[in-house]
Amino acid sequence: MKLILSTLPILIVVFILEFSSGNEHRQFVYTGFTGSNFTLDGAARITSTGLIELTNDTARVKGHAVYPSPLRFRLSPDGMVQSFSTSFVFGILSSFGDIRGHGFAFFIGPSNDFTEAFPIQFLGLFNSTNNGSLSNQIFAVELDTIQNTEFGDIDNNHVGIDINSLNSLKSRPAGFYNNGKNGTFTNLPLIGSGPIQTWVEYDGNTTQINVTLAPLGMEKPARPLLSSTYDLSTVLKEQSYIGFSSSTGLSTGHHCVLGWSFGMNSPAPIIDSTKLPKLPYLGPRSPSKLLEIILPIASAVLVLAIGTITVILVRRHLRYKEVHEDWEVEYGPHRFTYKDLYHATKGFSSKHLIGVGGFGRVYKGVLPTSKSEVAVKRVSYNSKQGIKQFVAEVVSMGHLQHNNVVKLFGYCRRKGELLLVYDYMKNGSLEKYLYGEEGRATLDWGQRFKIIKGIASGLLYLHEEWDKVVIHRDVKPNNVLLDKEMNGRLGDFGLARLYDHGTDPQTTHIVGTIGYLAPELVHRGKATTLTDVFAFGIFILEVTCGRKPITENTESHQVMLVDWVIQNWHKGSLLDTVDIKLQGIYDIDEVCLALKLGLLCSHPFPDARPNMRQVLQYLDGDVTLPELIPAHFSFHMLALMQNEGRFGSSIVSSYPSPTMMINGSISFSLDGR
Ligand SMILES: Nc1ncnc2c1ncn2[C@@H]1O[C@H](COP(=O)(O)OP(=O)(O)OP(=O)(O)O)[C@@H](O)[C@H]1O
Ligand SMILES: *[C@@H]1O[C@H](CO)[C@@H](O)[C@H](O)[C@H]1NC(C)=O
Ligand SMILES: *[C@@H]1O[C@H](CO)[C@@H](O)[C@H](O)[C@H]1NC(C)=O
Ligand SMILES: *[C@@H]1O[C@H](CO)[C@@H](O)[C@H](O)[C@H]1NC(C)=O
Ligand SMILES: *[C@@H]1O[C@H](CO)[C@@H](O)[C@H](O)[C@H]1NC(C)=O
Ligand SMILES: *[C@@H]1O[C@H](CO)[C@@H](O)[C@H](O)[C@H]1NC(C)=O
Ligand SMILES: *[C@@H]1O[C@H](CO)[C@@H](O)[C@H](O)[C@H]1NC(C)=O
Ligand SMILES: *[C@@H]1O[C@H](CO)[C@@H](O)[C@H](O)[C@H]1NC(C)=O
Repeated sequence: MKLILSTLPILIVVFILEFSSGNEHRQFVYTGFTGSNFTLDGAARITSTGLIELTNDTARVKGHAVYPSPLRFRLSPDGMVQSFSTSFVFGILSSFGDIRGHGFAFFIGPSNDFTEAFPIQFLGLFNSTNNGSLSNQIFAVELDTIQNTEFGDIDNNHVGIDINSLNSLKSRPAGFYNNGKNGTFTNLPLIGSGPIQTWVEYDGNTTQINVTLAPLGMEKPARPLLSSTYDLSTVLKEQSYIGFSSSTGLSTGHHCVLGWSFGMNSPAPIIDSTKLPKLPYLGPRSPSKLLEIILPIASAVLVLAIGTITVILVRRHLRYKEVHEDWEVEYGPHRFTYKDLYHATKGFSSKHLIGVGGFGRVYKGVLPTSKSEVAVKRVSYNSKQGIKQFVAEVVSMGHLQHNNVVKLFGYCRRKGELLLVYDYMKNGSLEKYLYGEEGRATLDWGQRFKIIKGIASGLLYLHEEWDKVVIHRDVKPNNVLLDKEMNGRLGDFGLARLYDHGTDPQTTHIVGTIGYLAPELVHRGKATTLTDVFAFGIFILEVTCGRKPITENTESHQVMLVDWVIQNWHKGSLLDTVDIKLQGIYDIDEVCLALKLGLLCSHPFPDARPNMRQVLQYLDGDVTLPELIPAHFSFHMLALMQNEGRFGSSIVSSYPSPTMMINGSISFSLDGR
């Protein structure tokens, strides 16, 4: 059998040479089509890489590539159609993903002229009148990617054997039977599977037609996809053209042929797949490559990014976390966000720290939106009770508007912490100027007197000129801040209330600073405008004398500033008490007025003290100070009160100048400076 088959081609060659005129092409193989002279029409072309591209993205076009000369399929006009075998490698590309059309066909027909054929579902082979007509004399194998029900298409990815008609003799979904014992069927999408090899075989004796498909590179499956018997002798002419036909409709595709071999009365020569041109890339790449390379990287980056963002957000959230409660809604305009304050003070950096007070640290900052300079005081608190009332007071104090009162802009609240935002005072606290280093320029008397008057006016405003009586509770040089024009301004007002409200109401709480506390305040624990006047008296003496309210003498005894001034006055050397840093340059009348008024204000008996309105009148010279003699200030009486009072020397000596809170048996909130 083998011998017979192998000798047969030679016979046929001889036969052909003998009976035909020039039909000697019984075998050919193409790997790429560069330089071939196929008959091309419609959109068909041979690309620079050697592909036959039958169609492109133009809609409703036909494309044909026909072998240059017809082949002799019958040995005589009435003879049988000979056995033949052909194999081709094709690829269908779509620029638009799954949208594709319409398919293509391998054909054997009487002509290479398809001008009368229709594109779209007719695949460039037939038209609406000649479909099904025996006069067509066409055998074709269609590779159809659109389901046309009028032609009985089984699906949109099928292979069919067509005789004179687009209604296939037999069709199957594209695919292949695996070689091997199982022979399982695998579907093969005509689009997107890369190059596909197809075999079409006809046995002239048995009239059996086999069509087989497989991805390029795979061994030819033993079991054909389609197998049918049809005597092509009733179809094909003696001389027939062979080639490919394709068409597009509204949906388009690139139908490409990479390689082709043919054998008449012989197996089709093997196509060397390594020599085939490559299918170009069109449209979106198949997702598998994306999934393999880009996706893992992308997802890793994504996970990392989400993680980082989450960490940042959580940290941000914690960093800027505030406490908001319903009752605060009405204070909205006075509320600052912690974020703003955080940025204003560069994260409360130590560079921005301008002072540490008894209530907390004070930072300088520049608000991000308004660019105004502010001082932010961080006050810690641990009781919930008083906070509501305190915030209410803070907000109401925000309405205070006076030249000698530091403007309070608003607040912010965090867990266990309150932030108060004040106008920034360029020249800091008065204390710095009073007790500056030796030889350093200090304030002259004019400046001092102006500050005394200013603070008196500020206190009067708090006591009498505003809607509510505001008791400052902590008048002292350290709480007097100097603006850029060296005006004194009262700061820190009302803050003591936080501690007042914030603790157990059963216990008495006194807030203030030792040395500035009126005796009755120590005894009864009730702050009044007159206890403010007392502190203001001490303040005047301090500013005039440049001396702390309590000092230690050479024998380590506590000396009260008040006592010392009275003593000097008694001895007739009142002016000796004036700050030596003034170097004797001052207005004697003003100094005497200040000293005497200071003593009057810090009188141990509240009733003997003037109110702030009177104080201001004295200072302005509108009313003359009543004639006073040292005896008015019973120095023994004062000493007595001090002994009875809480100014135990042991306490004072251990805490030089602290802010204190006296709580039943005296306790201190100290910040050693
Ligand atoms: N509005 C402000 N502008 C400029 N500096 C300020 C302002 N408020 C406070 N300071 C500075 O911060 C320092 C600390 O102020 P703070 O009022 O907290 O404490 P204190 O007055 O020294 O003590 P206490 O808490 O006992 O009153 C002050 O000495 C002052 O120099
Ligand atoms: C191309 O076709 C012409 C006739 O159509 C033929 O004479 C010629 O030999 C062909 N060339 C090749 C390379 O097939
Ligand atoms: C398709 O091919 C035809 C004929 O070669 C050409 O005129 C047309 O411009 C092409 N269309 C596209 C979209 O490339
Ligand atoms: C269909 O094609 C045949 C030739 O094959 C032609 O005679 C006929 O006119 C065509 N019909 C149409 C509708 O174009
Ligand atoms: C095409 O021809 C076949 C076979 O003659 C026929 O069954 C079918 O109805 C025709 N279809 C159309 C759309 O003309
Ligand atoms: C045959 O099929 C069985 C299961 O049906 C499978 O386990 C086996 O791997 C298959 N073998 C081959 C060669 O495909
Ligand atoms: C068609 O396939 C069958 C089954 O593999 C085979 O027996 C037969 O020889 C094939 N016929 C042709 C013409 O290849
Ligand atoms: C057809 O079959 C006969 C024997 O049955 C054989 O001699 C002959 O060569 C075959 N012809 C073809 C074309 O295969």
